[in-house]
Amino acid sequence: MLKLFCVGCGPGDPELITIRALNLIKEADVIFVPTSKLNKPSIALSIVEKYLKESTEIINLVFPMIKDKDSLKEYWKKNASEIAQMVRSRKKTVYLTVGDPSLYSTWIYIHKELKKNYQDIEIEIVPGITSIFAFAAEAKISLVEGNENLSIVPACYDLNKVKNTVKFSDTIVFLKDGRYFDNVIKMLSDTGFGDDSKIAIAQDVSTQENILEIKSLKDLKGKKQSSSKYFSIMVVKRNDRE
Ligand SMILES: C[S@@+](CC[C@H](N)C(=O)[O-])C[C@H]1O[C@@H](n2cnc3c(N)ncnc32)[C@H](O)[C@@H]1O
Repeated sequence: MLKLFCVGCGPGDPELITIRALNLIKEADVIFVPTSKLNKPSIALSIVEKYLKESTEIINLVFPMIKDKDSLKEYWKKNASEIAQMVRSRKKTVYLTVGDPSLYSTWIYIHKELKKNYQDIEIEIVPGITSIFAFAAEAKISLVEGNENLSIVPACYDLNKVKNTVKFSDTIVFLKDGRYFDNVIKMLSDTGFGDDSKIAIAQDVSTQENILEIKSLKDLKGKKQSSSKYFSIMVVKRNDRE
């Protein structure tokens, strides 16, 4: 039977991975890792590096940070084909992804390609701890309680769409690129969020470079550069009952 394992390797701390993930990583003949540019070190790989045996082959797959769907599709097709060839050569093959594979992951596109064009390959997905829950734990905040709802929003796209989601949310988690957080903070006060709404922002959660701040909306309004990195996360709570 041909099988591919997609393994979520958690948010950054090598101890925040599941035992299933660890076993598969240790046993793998080949590990495919996503990276945004050729020769750019893979973050997913850096998380699991210390667990790898010497003979494991590491193959970088480029997923560029571009928004043009046609060009992206070419990369997804090429990458899926490379993975499929490796699985068909009967090597124990793992596709590694940061956090959980089902949340804004490169895996989602690979999975679609495999389902469509490589139906002889069985797939097992190993869930991982997402940056969202690692962040809540680190900041020691709850995300939602009782009848509250939670929205997960990528900050780097259409701000009008973000505005509509935000109107009906008690707690919002913003992902994908801290460089867009200033615009979002500005928009929040126009969308009925009070000055006392709590905002928690972090970069590089669960790593040694971690930066975390918890403020109220009024402290951040009009200030520049709340976070400067792609690997940033922001949680906004409308009603903080704590
Ligand atoms: C492509 S998405 C991948 C999300 C991942 N699958 C997960 O479960 O967390 C990348 C975004 O996730 C967030 N992210 C992932 N890991 C993070 C970390 N260690 N610290 C802060 N943000 C992180 C950032 O918002 C980043 O822009």
